[in-house]
Amino acid sequence: MKNDEPRSFRLETDRLTLHRPRRKDLSAITRELGKRRIVKNLSTAPHPYSFIDATNWFGRINASWGASSFTFGIYEKMLAEELIGVISVDNLLVHAHPCPSFGYWLASDHWGRGLMSEAVGSVLAFAFKRLNAPAVEATYLEENPASGRVMEKNGFVSVEQTLLWSRFQGTYLPGHLMRCEKADWLGK
Ligand SMILES: CC(C)(COP(=O)(O)OP(=O)(O)OC[C@H]1O[C@@H](n2cnc3c(N)ncnc32)[C@H](O)[C@@H]1OP(=O)(O)O)[C@@H](O)C(=O)NCCC(=O)NCCS
Repeated sequence: MKNDEPRSFRLETDRLTLHRPRRKDLSAITRELGKRRIVKNLSTAPHPYSFIDATNWFGRINASWGASSFTFGIYEKMLAEELIGVISVDNLLVHAHPCPSFGYWLASDHWGRGLMSEAVGSVLAFAFKRLNAPAVEATYLEENPASGRVMEKNGFVSVEQTLLWSRFQGTYLPGHLMRCEKADWLGK
């Protein structure tokens, strides 16, 4: 963690910097979420995806930052300040079941290099050490095993097979609810 002031939280890994997205990132977000291969794996992103959708999303994540969620832009250090993905920690206000959930996507030009596994690792450390979350949950569609693998590599285990809403496909699809316990993560 670079800074302890919540509005300027920054996370760092060997290859990545993660921090709040900026307005100038909205073009990159609009371009990537316009791609079928990305949006089909997300539960609620609209398709087609417009700059107005990105602007509305930007307003929501800024309003909820540090209250109900933290949404980080992912920036590869060697590309300076170009956003290449997004990862969020959501549901922080559900006190009866204190278990934030993760959501993420990576620009397709950067797939297959271990970058999202690296990003998930750093946001898990943030959730457990900074937010003191007892556990973290995430879901993925059966038809998206790469995402399941990203979770497994970071210590998530399958809790149950379930149906997940796909806005893109307009129906529920088979998927998995995954969970990573802080105690297991600390001991791994
Ligand atoms: C899923 C996604 C985040 C993965 O990002 P990434 O940086 O390429 O992931 P990583 O390189 O860190 O790891 C991917 C792992 O999945 C594996 N994988 C890739 N395709 C696979 C497949 N079809 N079946 C099984 N495993 C697969 C890779 O081999 C790798 O595992 P390994 O390191 O053990 O070899 C990226 O593809 C993406 O953004 N997809 C669209 C949006 C999305 O799916 N978001 C998640 C919603 S739950």
